[in-house]
This record gives sequence, structure tokens and C-alpha cells, in this order.
Amino acid sequence: MEKEIKNISFTVIENGIQTPVVTRHGSYPNLMYLLKEELQLESFGECGGAGRCATCLVTTKSVTGASLIKERNEPNTLEQLGYTDQATRLSCQIYITADLNDAEITILEI
Ligand code: FES
Repeated sequence: MEKEIKNISFTVIENGIQTPVVTRHGSYPNLMYLLKEELQLESFGECGGAGRCATCLVTTKSVTGASLIKERNEPNTLEQLGYTDQATRLSCQIYITADLNDAEITILEI
């Protein structure tokens, strides 16, 4: 039986402009790579996803499931910058999964 492939759709906000994104599970290694390529963001994700540079900062709304869990370097990097809330994330630590369906992702300037 063939595995069903479903679209994942969410909204990205950059400088007040909303961009709808439709993608598929695992289409990019993580959300940082998707945002960098789809929105052609320069100087975004400078450490390549190691969770250290914080140039991939976003705020998230309506993200669900395991994608809510901050792992590896993410909690320390965010705490060093003073971000202790649940919604501020390193986009390189969020995978492209159904957890992003109907979410709102806002790109932060640092
Ligand atoms: S790419 Fe460096 S922290 Fe996300």
C-alpha cells in the first residue's frame, strides 16, 4: 500500500507581510532551511542548524505536538538571549512535520 502524502500548510510573517507556505513532510532538513530558501533570507541560519547562532529566530503560534519541545542547544541559546517564553524558537530546531499545520511563524530580527 502506498503511503499517503499530505500537504503541510502554514503562514510565515516577515516585516508584517504574510506568506502562505505549502510543503510536504521532510521537504527540508528543518524550518530554517525552508524559510531561508522560500523567502530568500540572507544572513539567516548562519551556523547551519547547530542551534548556536540564533540568526534563525522566530516566534511560533499554533505549533503542536513534539515540535513544541526544545532540545539540544536550543534552550541554552535562547536563555542567553533572554528568551524564556514557549513561543520564541530557533527555526533550525523545528522539523517540517504536520505539527506545523495551520501554524503562524513570525521571523524575528536580532
Ligand atoms: S541556524 Fe544557527 S541557531 Fe539556528
